[in-house]
Amino acid sequence: MEKIIWDEGFSVGVRHLDKQHQQIVILVNTLIEMNDTEVDSEIISDTLTKMTQFANDHLKTEEQYMLEYGYPGYSIQKKQHQEFKRKTVDFCMETMAHKVTVPTEIFSYLKLWWTNHILTEDMKYKEFFNARGLK
Ligand SMILES: [Fe+2]
Repeated sequence: MEKIIWDEGFSVGVRHLDKQHQQIVILVNTLIEMNDTEVDSEIISDTLTKMTQFANDHLKTEEQYMLEYGYPGYSIQKKQHQEFKRKTVDFCMETMAHKVTVPTEIFSYLKLWWTNHILTEDMKYKEFFNARGLK
């Protein structure tokens, strides 16, 4: 599976959020790499847990900014974040249950979710936050 290649097109114009996105992309890419090389599921599970922690921190930061600045798309994003968190808990459980192979679905879901989250959903707040001085 191809890794996510970060370029300027991924920037949401808020430095702190870009940094968090970059760290998450690195972890998702590490997972994609592990899937290709069939690494032990325990190592995958650890990386998945780490990614989940980074993701939870990031989604919380975003929600705080959205509330603070009165972003109109808050409730839609909040729902997507909750759905993602539910899914990743399932994935962590599944990975721990599978001793040798980890379902490929996990990696493709993560890649698709984060790409869509950054490039489609988060891009919607870029101008909104920038116009209000959050950069
Ligand atoms: Fe985000």
